[in-house]
Amino acid sequence: MNQTNIIAHRGSKGTHPENTLEAIKEAVRVGSDGIELDIHLSLDKELIVIHDETIDRTTNGNGRVQHLTLAELKQFDAGSWYSYEYSHCRIPTLQEIFCFLEEVDYEGLVNIELKTDKFSYPGIEEKVVAFVAEKNWPFTIEYSSFNYQTLIQLKALDDSCKIALLFEKTGGNVAFLSPDIPINMWHPKLSWFRRNSLFRVLEKPVRVWTVNKSEDLQFCFRKQVAGVITDYPQKALELRNKWQYEGV
Ligand code: G3P
Ligand code: MG
Repeated sequence: MNQTNIIAHRGSKGTHPENTLEAIKEAVRVGSDGIELDIHLSLDKELIVIHDETIDRTTNGNGRVQHLTLAELKQFDAGSWYSYEYSHCRIPTLQEIFCFLEEVDYEGLVNIELKTDKFSYPGIEEKVVAFVAEKNWPFTIEYSSFNYQTLIQLKALDDSCKIALLFEKTGGNVAFLSPDIPINMWHPKLSWFRRNSLFRVLEKPVRVWTVNKSEDLQFCFRKQVAGVITDYPQKALELRNKWQYEGV
């Protein structure tokens, strides 16, 4: 049986403030096979780890990431919105996350999602490929995006890189699901996978998001998907290991 990899969504989003160092630390602590995080570009062109285009929801500040410098972004509290005990959390850069993962010798997968579907952030693809190439990181790095053009640019910059197309429904960027298109993996929304995996032959490895409920995790394990992207990596790992050994 093919084992399904457990990938921590925005770190361990269900138990810690998403996309912060604390959430990434937790993902490592529980033994996640992979970690997914989201990146944007700041005004001074730093690679910033955050989900939204603005800092409004996940910090005590407001404004667009692309309108703020790194120094400005660092002033805000990125943890209290989740729980007061995380008030020390700041918005991290990709470099800070990678340095931590290097320090702890993390050997899993790091899935960098480029959030270029609302703003294109000109130059973000070059920036991330150059940053990744700076070192021989102990972990595996792959890219995903809802923006197919971003993935094609990444591939043009580094032919050896692995790219995954994110999609929610048939139509839109799913038009690119042809096996001839040089994407390596499909990253569909759970609702799409629930419907389509019943009758559709899935030609590429699939990692499904966001899979949190036990019944959905078990459905994905039964389908032997390559990975699940989950807010609760510890729970998913426990369930996957039980499923693997006991078949329940
Ligand atoms: O990579 C899967 C998932 O992160 C895609 O959606 O909005 O959570 O970034 P979102
Ligand atoms: Mg994401």
